[in-house]
Amino acid sequence: MQSRLVTMEEGKDPTTNSIRTNQTRVLPSRLLRSLLILLIVGIVLSIVSIRMNRNLGVGNLVPGTQHPCFQEPISLQNLIKPPSNYMHVMNDSELLWRASFVPQIKEYPFKRIPKIAFMFLTRGPLPMSPLWEKFFAGNEELYSIYVHSLPLYVSNFSTSSVFYGRQIPSQMVEWGRMSMCDAERRLLANALLDISNEWFVLLSEACIPIHSFSIIYRYISKSRFSFMGSVDEPGPYGRGRYDINMLPEVNISQWRKGSQWFEANRNLAVDIIKDTKFYPKFEQFCRPACYVDEHYFPTMLTIQSPNLLANRSLTYVDWSRGGAHPATFGKNDISKNFFKKLREDQTCIYNNQPTTVCFLFARKFAPSALEPLLLNSLEFFGF
Ligand SMILES: *[C@@H]1O[C@H](CO)[C@@H](O)[C@H](O)[C@H]1NC(C)=O
Ligand SMILES: *[C@@H]1O[C@H](CO)[C@@H](O)[C@H](O)[C@H]1NC(C)=O
Ligand SMILES: *[C@@H]1O[C@H](CO)[C@@H](O)[C@H](O)[C@H]1NC(C)=O
Ligand SMILES: *[C@@H]1O[C@H](CO)[C@@H](O)[C@H](O)[C@H]1NC(C)=O
Repeated sequence: MQSRLVTMEEGKDPTTNSIRTNQTRVLPSRLLRSLLILLIVGIVLSIVSIRMNRNLGVGNLVPGTQHPCFQEPISLQNLIKPPSNYMHVMNDSELLWRASFVPQIKEYPFKRIPKIAFMFLTRGPLPMSPLWEKFFAGNEELYSIYVHSLPLYVSNFSTSSVFYGRQIPSQMVEWGRMSMCDAERRLLANALLDISNEWFVLLSEACIPIHSFSIIYRYISKSRFSFMGSVDEPGPYGRGRYDINMLPEVNISQWRKGSQWFEANRNLAVDIIKDTKFYPKFEQFCRPACYVDEHYFPTMLTIQSPNLLANRSLTYVDWSRGGAHPATFGKNDISKNFFKKLREDQTCIYNNQPTTVCFLFARKFAPSALEPLLLNSLEFFGF
């Protein structure tokens, strides 16, 4: 090694030159032999390692140690595969930006089975989860679940639960404030990351389904309108909450009110998460006693795409008992007649036709209602 270095530096020196020519005569046969041995060892090792990769999947067990040649090539399936766990480290700006991607070619080059995303906005536990498990059973291809709970809450669903690993990165929520709409947008954005989700339903821990999955799926998927409650309500709790500072984006005749519990299709979901025009106005000028979660989405969507809205919610809520909060139903309220009324005793418009099936979900149910609901769900709801 040293002599070679010397020859390179002092190539014109005759003595070092002669040493080099001597060495080059000796080298070829030794070098060839060593190279041959190395080559054989190399070939044997690579055959062994390929076999081990194939037979034992060793390469997959040690991520990051594979040679680039062995990496799986990019495929569409890989690019669109939804994550197996919903936890990520994107902040809201990054998440909303990523979720706003919309394909510009309308025909899918794969078989897309459109799913309903059930988005649970909760404080913590989901006491009605056993009923939901029964509801979802057997429909695995047609739904996905997302749960936003208060950040410090740690859920403990078993690995066999449909709610296991369905928690999304969450932040503090104050009821009736913009942080509530932020949480709803966060749920929508996480659900939009799965290209198969076509309809998005917002639910709470006190909500239950009052029809079977197949009826709900058909009702939502065949509807020409999204079920966003949106009415122009006179009086202090409607127009009374409008603030003139919302001009020019929103004027008084555009102001709407609706239930927080909505269903939206994918296009409207993207409209909601990409909005930067209305957001600042609602954040600044709709604060309690203006409850922003009852006005922001209904008003914005009514301005942007009024023809896509059914203007009614799919979730039954009972305000008849009066007061600031709707009625909560417990064990003693649960009866066949109670649900018969919820399911059939009103008329509304569905795809421009009158119908008596107006509600697919209902709230609010106390944990004590779970037991009688589970016992009678087949008779009451058909699941
Ligand atoms: C998210 O992170 C980016 C990059 O660090 C930053 O520019 C942006 O302001 C952050 N957004 C939020 C909502 O924190
Ligand atoms: C989760 O924890 C709650 C109490 O913190 C308990 O009542 C419940 O049984 C637990 N669930 C599971 C699936 O372990
Ligand atoms: C509100 O704006 C709409 C659309 O620009 C307009 O047609 C309507 O006349 C306005 N209403 C009022 C009360 O200003
Ligand atoms: C919902 O209300 C808007 C106006 O606020 C209207 O243009 C639209 O036609 C309504 N939708 C249905 C299904 O009636």
